[in-house]
Amino acid sequence: MTARHIPEQLPADLFGKGDRDRAVRVLDAVASARLRWTTLINRRDLAPRVDDHRLALVVTERRIEAYDQDVVSLRLAAPDRRELPPWRPGAHLDLELPSGRLRQYSLCGDPADTRAYRVAVRRIPDGGGGSVEVHDNLPVGAPITVRGPRNAFPFAVPGHGSPAARLHFIAGGIGITPILPMARLAQRLGIEWSMVYTGRSRDTIPFLDEIAGFGDRVTVRTDDEHGLPDAAALLPGVAADTAVYCCGPAPMTTTVAAAIREMPWVELHSERFSPPPIVNGVPFEIEFASTGEVVEVAADRSVLDIILTTRPDRPYSCRQGFCRTCKVRVLAGEPEHRETVLTPAEHEAGDMLVCVSRSPGGRLVLDL
Ligand code: FES
Repeated sequence: MTARHIPEQLPADLFGKGDRDRAVRVLDAVASARLRWTTLINRRDLAPRVDDHRLALVVTERRIEAYDQDVVSLRLAAPDRRELPPWRPGAHLDLELPSGRLRQYSLCGDPADTRAYRVAVRRIPDGGGGSVEVHDNLPVGAPITVRGPRNAFPFAVPGHGSPAARLHFIAGGIGITPILPMARLAQRLGIEWSMVYTGRSRDTIPFLDEIAGFGDRVTVRTDDEHGLPDAAALLPGVAADTAVYCCGPAPMTTTVAAAIREMPWVELHSERFSPPPIVNGVPFEIEFASTGEVVEVAADRSVLDIILTTRPDRPYSCRQGFCRTCKVRVLAGEPEHRETVLTPAEHEAGDMLVCVSRSPGGRLVLDL
């Protein structure tokens, strides 16, 4: 690895938001623990804003990052190699893929590298097509338009705005991408930190060479060698006044969150890959206005899931109610909004984010 620039002074906005939004205050009251679901905290941050950067970049480097060949990293730079907008550990980019799909990927490079961004993507053959497109259709030299960076998963540094005294990182597979820049910064600043990095096998987990540079601060734990990790394996010896940053598949983040509810002296910052579980859903119907077709939405399915079964080209991205890509106009019926990014005027106009919002019953007529 090349030597990295160590910042002598931290940027003032490095430490995330000091003012938490209403969703988090409600969550705090319910959880009665110091859980911070960062995906909820920052939904408003993630919504497209007028000052979002939209940048025309090119792929300047591709690297295979896992032995199974299923993770590729892309280095993205401006054609004239000018400096790019700054970012903080935990931030992500929206990539506008050649097909028109919009997909979000965490920045996993170095914020001190001001002329390039790095993202890494695991190929998911039976996913929504975005990862396969990145692997197959973005060679070196390919143009790519990005939006952002946006601060999706803010990192609060102990001693510089965070009350925590130490850090513990938990990464599952490709969930290492937002964690890597955080660990690097913690290392540079001399903060006490540890990490548990999990995956199915060593062949599948990316950036093992970079992780090796951290020495015994990192425990690599694979399912084929050790079995599925439980809370004790993910939080070994986590002490009071620790901030835990966790990114990975839903079972892992759920396990960690449940354990930390019993540890009121530990705070959790978590980002999940997958849609949040549907809580208290009831079945209802949707009607496609253009055809009159009526389909039931089961209590445990999202409206987006159902739309995609007949309209697989409908755009979506985050599936967590913050990117707005899946917005649909409701022409009739009672929506139940389960996001915090649309404005009251948009709700009034009938707009709905179909990846998370639903209906308390009856039928929604959609402008589709
Ligand atoms: S808000 Fe992102 S896909 Fe629905």
